[in-house]
Amino acid sequence: MRPISLTGIKPTGTPHLGNYLGAIRPALDLVKNYETVYFIADYHALTTIQDGNTMRDNIYKVAATWLALGLNPEEGLFYKQSDIPEIFELSWALSCFTPKGFMNRAHAYKDSVAKNEAKGEDLDSNINMGLFSYPCLMDADILMFNANVVPVGKDQKQHVEFARDVAMRFNKKFGEILTVPESLIQEETDVIPGLDGRKMSKSYDNTIEIFLDPKSLKKKIGKIVTNAQSIEEPKDPEACNVFALYKLFASPEQAASLASRYRAGGLGWGHAKAELQALLEEALGPARERYFHLRSHTEEIDKILAYGAEKARVKSKETMALVRQALGVF
Ligand code: ADP
Ligand code: TRP
Repeated sequence: MRPISLTGIKPTGTPHLGNYLGAIRPALDLVKNYETVYFIADYHALTTIQDGNTMRDNIYKVAATWLALGLNPEEGLFYKQSDIPEIFELSWALSCFTPKGFMNRAHAYKDSVAKNEAKGEDLDSNINMGLFSYPCLMDADILMFNANVVPVGKDQKQHVEFARDVAMRFNKKFGEILTVPESLIQEETDVIPGLDGRKMSKSYDNTIEIFLDPKSLKKKIGKIVTNAQSIEEPKDPEACNVFALYKLFASPEQAASLASRYRAGGLGWGHAKAELQALLEEALGPARERYFHLRSHTEEIDKILAYGAEKARVKSKETMALVRQALGVF
């Protein structure tokens, strides 16, 4: 039996190249070595997205993105969190084994406290219980499916530590029922730079969306910040935001070849940007077609998610039966 990896995807907006290179591509690569579980964490997004149409649209967007980029629903599991009622049952059970102090220390909650305090806002009315107990739901996501590894960005490492801790507490009382997970941090794609060289992020408004049409993509790439060097001057590829993105899509030979053209001089920023555009088009063009097909055929996504939920619930019912028996609630 191969180890199990589990990836939760929050449907919070239009995915960008930072999400693709930092999260989606590495997570999709795991099929080579793991039994994979991918799911859309829609109820986690509910802590901030509280409009039905926006939520629905984001769920379809994120599902279409992952499917277009190569997620195979026949392999492993792919479902939507809200379709698995056992997760919420387990979340409650686990919350009864979680010290409240852990939640006080959770990063997302602490950040929200700090922001509200800075604005002089009333914490007790401004922070919802969903945000406070967010990690308990994530514990259930992870422990329900016996995940061995959880690929996450650094910001999520603490949450996986909580899941480890609660699994151990639970097992100590009731026997080896839950699998103790580990986080899997992809260091090399930790910070994908955006248009201005800072970390690509929706909150910095410096993103390149994954499925832009060629015209919009050209416009976006045109906005990548470069310096004032003339065409003739030799340039340092490692100090260039265009090259930083290029290299993440290029083969080693392609990267080496463009790097030597930078160093030789005679390559202008416009040329470098055209190279990046061509490479992105080649890497993502076919996926863009699949993406727009799925976006206009949401019934296909519905079917895939329903199939995924059915498969996932075989496992979640099994785990929950063991947990219920251990707790004595049957
Ligand atoms: P944003 O900052 O745009 O809101 P999210 O927080 O929704 O992005 O990110 C979702 C996932 O994508 C996370 O796992 C995060 O680690 C990864 N990610 C986002 N931006 C980047 C980036 N610039 N470089 C590497 N990974 C990123
Ligand atoms: N909290 C994660 C994020 O903000 C999403 C998530 C929810 C998740 N449940 C998970 C990630 C379980 C990994 C495992 O990106």
